[in-house]
Amino acid sequence: MSTFWPPENLRNASLDMTDPRPDVVGWDAAMVALREYVDGLPTHYDNSWHLFCGPVGVGKSHLAACIFNAVKATRCGWVERWIIASQMVEMLSPGDRRSVWRRRLVEANPLVIDDIGGEYRTEWGEAEIEYVISRRYDKQRMTILTSNLSPEKLGERYGERVIDRIREVATILTLVGPSYRGSGG
Ligand SMILES: Nc1ncnc2c1ncn2[C@@H]1O[C@H](COP(=O)(O)OP(=O)(O)O)[C@@H](O)[C@H]1O
Ligand SMILES: [Mg+2]
Repeated sequence: MSTFWPPENLRNASLDMTDPRPDVVGWDAAMVALREYVDGLPTHYDNSWHLFCGPVGVGKSHLAACIFNAVKATRCGWVERWIIASQMVEMLSPGDRRSVWRRRLVEANPLVIDDIGGEYRTEWGEAEIEYVISRRYDKQRMTILTSNLSPEKLGERYGERVIDRIREVATILTLVGPSYRGSGG
């Protein structure tokens, strides 16, 4: 279902095709951690989470796609889903379909929630995001998050319970540097 696919330009993203980013603080450490994680996927069935924080264009969604694609290649029968937080909130707006979307978002394994914090702010939207993340935590579903917000800001926005859970199960990788989009790369 096209609703839940990564953007076209990230469908083939892989660590092997990722350019080095000497201008990005935290990049090398992230690459080491992700390489180890991806190499372990065929033999280690852990469902640990990842959170990528940092400014626009630094490569967060790209790295999320590297994990997503690697999981897809190694986990037969899993239902991978990718959603942008703004679309997710739209899906979860009050109405008849809400429970259907909720279930799809909770059951996906893995689920990428791209650009969390970038969605239009509403009280119910934040409650829905909290619900999905908490249910996924309870069910130990692999979750990959990207955000322009720091973990502290995510805590202020979605509540300490949410960020506490993320901190417990996620590898948090913060990247700081210029946008790749303007680099001609
Ligand atoms: N190290 C890299 N190697 C190759 N392409 C990259 C790299 N970092 C980013 N890109 C590409 O640059 C663009 C912006 O990166 P993206 O991951 O979307 O940034 P962010 O999500 O942090 O805003 C994307 O098209 C992505 O595929
Ligand atoms: Mg992005």
